[in-house]
Amino acid sequence: MLDEIALKYKTDKGSQGHGHTKYYEQIFLARREQVKTVLEIGVYRGASLRMWADYFPNAEIFGIDCNPKVAARTKHKVFIGDQEDLIFLQKVIKEINRPIDLIIDDGGHTQDQHIFTFEILWPCVAAGGYYAIEDLQTCWSPRHRSTKGLDSMKYLHNLAEKVAIRYLTKIDIETIKFANKIVFVEKGK
Ligand SMILES: C[S@@+](CC[C@H](N)C(=O)[O-])C[C@H]1O[C@@H](n2cnc3c(N)ncnc32)[C@H](O)[C@@H]1O
Repeated sequence: MLDEIALKYKTDKGSQGHGHTKYYEQIFLARREQVKTVLEIGVYRGASLRMWADYFPNAEIFGIDCNPKVAARTKHKVFIGDQEDLIFLQKVIKEINRPIDLIIDDGGHTQDQHIFTFEILWPCVAAGGYYAIEDLQTCWSPRHRSTKGLDSMKYLHNLAEKVAIRYLTKIDIETIKFANKIVFVEKGK
């Protein structure tokens, strides 16, 4: 179902592009109607925001993008700013002002952005909700390399190790799931 919507709106998340939709569907198909709030970093032409709005009939959909032109391409609320700007993200959190069921990072895809944005927005994920980072293949791309010596894959593997001994670490991550070019981090309940 999600894949059909992705193809309809021509976002590259579908089976003719990156193929992320099948993994989202594994997680969300049974609880589509319970999802109330979605935030996606990276709006571009607004295709994926339209897809989420169709798939989650009871959700309010928000976007973040650094390009001011994208706001006119969607009816959904888009916050214009940089995903690596702490003050901007704090303003977004304050305006949304509720736990978020699904956050998707499909923005600039640099390793610094992956880590910084996750650390600031992770506390906003609702209990039982998910944070997805798409297009992880960029971790192997020189163009997306960290300027601070950070490594997103090592960062995520470190989280996975903490999840594996959650009874000791008490980390607030229930599961971390790696799939083709995407990772899903599930908040504990
Ligand atoms: C891959 S496109 C998003 C595609 C969209 N999610 C879809 O599936 O239809 C990436 C978007 O991220 C935005 N972007 C790039 N760097 C960013 C940054 N540092 N902060 C916020 N947005 C950024 C770009 O302007 C672009 O619109």
